[in-house]
Amino acid sequence: MSSLLTATVVVGALPILVYLWPAPPKGQTKSKIKIQLSKSIDQLANGDAVKFDAPKNPNSAFIMADGGGDNAAGDLAFGGFAVKDEQGKVRVLAINCSHLGCSIALNAADKSFDCPCHGSRFHLDGTVRHGPAVAPLSNLTWAQDSSDPSTIDIDGLVLGF
Ligand code: FES
Repeated sequence: MSSLLTATVVVGALPILVYLWPAPPKGQTKSKIKIQLSKSIDQLANGDAVKFDAPKNPNSAFIMADGGGDNAAGDLAFGGFAVKDEQGKVRVLAINCSHLGCSIALNAADKSFDCPCHGSRFHLDGTVRHGPAVAPLSNLTWAQDSSDPSTIDIDGLVLGF
């Protein structure tokens, strides 16, 4: 009896949940953004990274998969890094510093991501190496293109022309 009641409540609430579920803002289409990397993932050495920007035509942005500090899941990023950390694990990270959102830069000599604004530094796996940031960099949701190893598809939004 209680399971029947539970099922009735769940089914009855579905239209309300669908109605309340946030839709992408008008004129913005959630999609996979194709990015041609300057170096394919397979060619990245351990401890190396390549920067990429969101396409401008059409104007697009990436959607952060997670967050911390100034970043949150669902926030937009206009650039990122594909990085192979020193253990060989590949990540695709948003460019936004988790302190106050400035764009981080690769420090190839020190194998870190450094923020020019207030001096935060991050390990290549996105974790904090030096504050003031206390949260790691955000990941982007990505997949390698099956037909072109230098292209990755990243979850994002087409903002318009
Ligand atoms: S915004 Fe990066 S250290 Fe403050």
